[in-house]
Amino acid sequence: TGQTKMEMAKNMKDEDKFYRYDGVLYSSVMSPVENLEGLKSMQARPEDIVLVAYPKCGFTWVVGVMRKVMAASVGTKETSDILPLIEFHSPDVQKTVSQLPSPRFLGTHLHPDTIPASFMVKKTKMLVVFRNPKDTVVSYFHFMNKNPVLSKVTWDNFFSNFMSGDVAWGSYFDHAVAWDKLIDDPNVKIITYEELKEDLSEGIRQISKFFGLTITEEQVQAIADKSTFTAMSENSKNTHGKFGSVFFRKGEVGDWKNHFTEAQSRQMDEEFTRRLAGTRLGAKLKY
Ligand code: A3P
Repeated sequence: TGQTKMEMAKNMKDEDKFYRYDGVLYSSVMSPVENLEGLKSMQARPEDIVLVAYPKCGFTWVVGVMRKVMAASVGTKETSDILPLIEFHSPDVQKTVSQLPSPRFLGTHLHPDTIPASFMVKKTKMLVVFRNPKDTVVSYFHFMNKNPVLSKVTWDNFFSNFMSGDVAWGSYFDHAVAWDKLIDDPNVKIITYEELKEDLSEGIRQISKFFGLTITEEQVQAIADKSTFTAMSENSKNTHGKFGSVFFRKGEVGDWKNHFTEAQSRQMDEEFTRRLAGTRLGAKLKY
């Protein structure tokens, strides 16, 4: 399980924790090369429910929301079976997943070009969660230092690695630019962390509608109440065991102001302009 791997990683050397595949860094503990190779033959289904997010953009949050929406729409209890990140699945788990009944709930941090091609071919609906890059790098920095499968870093070093894309799962900007190109695809819906913070109930309505999951307004409200940062972090012992606090840190918009120097802020603004100015996703990622 994820938790066992996190336990094991405590004794690993930092330099053994990452490897490069097609130029992109990955966690050797959570997504070793055989997992990525195995994904190449993954068969998508049109009815799969897929959640995509660059690391630290709110994946865990939306997993919690989606599980509740899926359960409410069919009147069952919320489940927390297999970890939804497909690149964490060993070839054995991939075999199990290939036999799960529909609708399968799947997730990934992979770049759209690395997501198994079958998802595009089958026109599977993908919900993509994004977050402004300044809060994303801050969240990632803390995650590096708290998650034993990653490595201890200083803020300045990590900031500069983030800017050059030398972090696990690759460059934030590469991901954002690629998703912007797919923004009009009817099978892709992009939602931001900031939109969810602003109005979680509305986010839940939109997400349910996108996946064709019918829930009542009462259920929307109940799910929103259970999906606040406070509610989810208080429940994190149940959902994430002793590593709960690794996934729920602060849950706010704008924490970057407590970390960035002025020069770093300027550097991020320049890179944001260079890569995303004039794009519609860029307009959604304001900070
Ligand atoms: P911070 O580090 O800024 O607190 P991911 O799940 O993609 O790794 O993203 C993690 C970020 O989402 C963390 O951000 C975490 O605290 C935040 N988060 C998790 N659950 C949340 C919730 N219910 N509401 C708001 N933010 C949440």
